[in-house]
Amino acid sequence: MRYSTGYLLYPLFLSLNFVSSFGFPHATPAENILKRQATWNRIPGGLQFITDGSEASTVVWGLVDSKIYRYTGPFSNPNGSPWLQIPGALSQISAGAGSSIWGLTSDSDTLIWRYTGDNSASPWAPVSGALDSISVGRADNVWGVFEGGIWRCTNGGSGAAPWVQIPGPTGVNLSQRIWRYTGTGSSPWASVSGGLDLISVGSSTNVWGLFRGGIWRYTGGPDGSNPWIPIAGPASGGLTDLGVGSDGSVWGVNSTDQSIWQWTGN
Ligand SMILES: *[C@@H]1O[C@H](CO)[C@@H](O)[C@H](O)[C@H]1NC(C)=O
Ligand SMILES: *[C@@H]1O[C@H](CO)[C@@H](O)[C@H](O)[C@H]1NC(C)=O
Repeated sequence: MRYSTGYLLYPLFLSLNFVSSFGFPHATPAENILKRQATWNRIPGGLQFITDGSEASTVVWGLVDSKIYRYTGPFSNPNGSPWLQIPGALSQISAGAGSSIWGLTSDSDTLIWRYTGDNSASPWAPVSGALDSISVGRADNVWGVFEGGIWRCTNGGSGAAPWVQIPGPTGVNLSQRIWRYTGTGSSPWASVSGGLDLISVGSSTNVWGLFRGGIWRYTGGPDGSNPWIPIAGPASGGLTDLGVGSDGSVWGVNSTDQSIWQWTGN
């Protein structure tokens, strides 16, 4: 879920893992417990990975032990859980605008799947190709990384070769660097100050990341300054995965205790 993304329009932010280390100054743990509890709402259930494709209504999906779950709202599920299991098994999942849900498996002939939304026993359509990670902005803007290369799909995943390679960033070789896709030139990536372990993009103004368990939000500041501000974590500490919707909603999980958190700040 490294490139977990809600709504991936330009600019695209992508954290590429290269070799050495490039970090933030550490946030001081100034936030008190009350503030932590006030800005994160614990959601019943347990997940290891989460993705938020929300636009106007809640579109949140997650994985635990490869099982797939969709959030159904606080009281809408007859079994008492706010999570409905969806048939299938995935190793990664990404939700985008328009309820475009794509996923990856790592151990079958078909590696990339697109959710069809039907009520059948297998509501996933195969997409040709292979990826190591995937990030869905919407049905016609899906990005992936495969063996260090960057690939984009704009045709909804139909046909034999739906993926077009995008040139990667050049000139800087540091791990955890952050890049924003500009869409122009032979090296269409602009470096963004800071460093992250994981990034999630809901829209150009809703970009969040994790660094060593700490939560950071992009403020849109000019390159050169540090555009990231620390966000107090939930009561249990930090997060290991994060999903940001284009509506500004933010969900997170801690895969150790599998706790699920919905951000209630603004
Ligand atoms: C980055 O630099 C290291 C050596 O410092 C090298 O081994 C590695 O291949 C480089 N990676 C890229 C993507 O250029
Ligand atoms: C996740 O939760 C466990 C147990 O509550 C805690 O020890 C750990 O620090 C948390 N992980 C992060 C990244 O904060």
